[in-house]
Amino acid sequence: MKLVFLGPPGAGKGTQASMVCQRFAIPHISTGDMLRAAIANGTETGMKAKVFMDRGQLVPDEVLIEMVRERLNEKDCEKGFLLDGFPRTVDQAEALEGIAAPDVVVDVDVADEKLLDRLTGRRVCEKCRESFHVAKIGDAKVCSHCGGTLIQRDDDKPATIRNRLDVYHRQTAPLIDYYRGKGALRTVDGDQTPEKVFEAILVVLGG
Ligand code: AP5
Ligand code: MG
Repeated sequence: MKLVFLGPPGAGKGTQASMVCQRFAIPHISTGDMLRAAIANGTETGMKAKVFMDRGQLVPDEVLIEMVRERLNEKDCEKGFLLDGFPRTVDQAEALEGIAAPDVVVDVDVADEKLLDRLTGRRVCEKCRESFHVAKIGDAKVCSHCGGTLIQRDDDKPATIRNRLDVYHRQTAPLIDYYRGKGALRTVDGDQTPEKVFEAILVVLGG
């Protein structure tokens, strides 16, 4: 099972990916989380990526392609994987075809006007990376899953969110047609409760 989750920032890719990966026992590979870990560890890749991420721009393709190539070569990916946030450009998608072409690409579809509130109200666990929303958790500071500290992401500021949405429409949305052309695209309505979105994803995955 080789899966890709597509969708704009805040569509719920990360929220759904954790549930799907738990259900199918495959690794959840979030390139955003990998880059944030690299920043936290002060690596060269992290320092390079931070400049782009803080502006809401994409990190250069060559950095991401190499990072994903190495990750997919690890043993836990032998039985499948879920890529969350990669590919994001046609060049990344072409590279992935040469590494491990996805069987199914799930496009989590949510209109832009809903996304700003989802992202400005998001809190993420520093430890397990789970996403929450202040509408549900209020001003809780502790993750209900693992006890880690909840933080706000640096790029979840309104001006940066607008750049991320713009970048999504210009550089990533063309992948919808790219994967439709390959017969791999499955679109799911992401504007319903997380439980309903999960059910819809299970339907398109055939299980
Ligand atoms: P990344 O971390 O991938 O961010 P993103 O694509 O902008 O997506 P998000 O993580 O913001 O949203 P999500 O869809 O995961 O939503 P979530 O489940 O958290 O990338 C960050 C940056 O890294 C990029 O800008 C770029 O610079 C760089 N990068 C990463 N990959 C790259 C690549 N391949 N190439 C180049 N650069 C790359 O949910 C959001 C909120 O909504 C939460 O509060 C959640 O609780 C809530 N929510 C979730 N589902 C629902 C629902 N159904 N109803 C209501 N609320 C919901
Ligand atoms: Mg995410």
